[in-house]
Amino acid sequence: MIKEITISPGEDKSRDKENFDFITFRAGETISIVGPTGSGKTAFITDIELMAQGDTSTKRVVTINGKPPTDETRYDPSLKPIAMITQNTKCFADLSVEEFLLIHARARKITEKHLAVKTMELANKFTGEKIKKDNRVTVLSGGQTRSLLIADALMIGAAPIILLDEIENAGIFKQEVIEIIRNTSKIIIFVTHDPVIALLTKKRLIMENGAVKKIIVQNEAETGAAKNLIEIDKRMGVIRDNLRAGYEITKDLLNVSFA
Ligand SMILES: Nc1ncnc2c1ncn2[C@@H]1O[C@H](COP(=O)(O)OP(=O)(O)O)[C@@H](O)[C@H]1O
Ligand SMILES: [Mg+2]
Repeated sequence: MIKEITISPGEDKSRDKENFDFITFRAGETISIVGPTGSGKTAFITDIELMAQGDTSTKRVVTINGKPPTDETRYDPSLKPIAMITQNTKCFADLSVEEFLLIHARARKITEKHLAVKTMELANKFTGEKIKKDNRVTVLSGGQTRSLLIADALMIGAAPIILLDEIENAGIFKQEVIEIIRNTSKIIIFVTHDPVIALLTKKRLIMENGAVKKIIVQNEAETGAAKNLIEIDKRMGVIRDNLRAGYEITKDLLNVSFA
């Protein structure tokens, strides 16, 4: 059982020590990592992925439940408690979506009925491009692949820690889905440029020059602002759908008003 992971400070790109004592993420927490390109976001979550022990370029040290991970936890893929999904993550096996999910469920000895179907339904909430059970996983689009892998990680995968690196760009991720993710007991970390995702997480790390510069824990005012942002985002979604479908964008559509 993973209750928490803790990151001890490393060094920024100028080799100065990071300015925090330690950062702890607990089971059930969602976290976002923001900051300009090149600021060290991917490096930060890669340290978590590798369970770094001062042996990466950032010199950070990661502990799990207060202890350094054993070599087995670090290097045995079947024991690895962390799933990382990036823009480049692909499925290589030549299987249908259904076979892929069933094999994974069997490997994990999960016998729940209709699990593959439920996982596919969840994946289809993440993406507008419908995934069908007979689709070959190797020919899914980027957005479909990431949606399937996130659903798989949530429903079938055992990993209590899920790292998502800028995966919002393919039109995936709707608020309802983030809501589902938030209600799991996993630790989920989003590297993101999407303000909606950033504001839907309770904790936010701001990166600069390879270091964690600031940690913001959302207060009530921001939670309120986030609600408005979700409204704006939904409105943008309607406009986007109308544009795609070839309709004219009317004043009515643009006239955003909030209750
Ligand atoms: N603390 C650090 N020390 C040394 N190199 C770093 C550090 N943080 C990031 N880097 C390097 O800087 C480059 C950009 O970092 P990256 O994590 O890819 O940025 P981002 O994901 O924010 O665009 C990478 O080559 C990475 O290895
Ligand atoms: Mg990156």
